[in-house]
Amino acid sequence: MVHPNFQRKGLGTWLTRHCNALADKDGCKTYVGATPQSLGMFRKLGFEILGENNLDMVKYGGTLDGGNMWSLVRDPTPLEETSSNPET
Ligand SMILES: CC(C)(COP(=O)(O)OP(=O)(O)OC[C@H]1O[C@@H](n2cnc3c(N)ncnc32)[C@H](O)[C@@H]1OP(=O)(O)O)[C@@H](O)C(=O)NCCC(=O)NCCS
Repeated sequence: MVHPNFQRKGLGTWLTRHCNALADKDGCKTYVGATPQSLGMFRKLGFEILGENNLDMVKYGGTLDGGNMWSLVRDPTPLEETSSNPET
């Protein structure tokens, strides 16, 4: 989570691109859990939706309504493609 005072300044995008570059270097798939706020960012950065979950714990006696979450995956991009497509 990015501190509320520093959101929408590019930090989440910068960190995700950094992690994508590490995954590409090692040829690894990457999985993330996204909130409604982060879903668009991850999709723009190469992640595909695997599924959607509703984390409404109130109906099980909890107090936190976590809302919808998405599971996403990103396949590694071969390094020569990464250098010609800096978006991923
Ligand atoms: C979601 C989050 C991780 C993104 O980090 P960030 O540094 O704010 O992201 P960036 O500045 O790189 O913005 C990337 C995109 O995130 C999305 N985004 C960020 N904050 C958002 C918000 N409050 N509502 C909707 N979309 C949001 C936008 O699509 C944005 O792109 P845009 O500005 O071109 O529209 C951060 O805002 C955050 O921690 N939010 C609250 C908690 C949360 O939901 N965390 C998710 C963890 S998976």
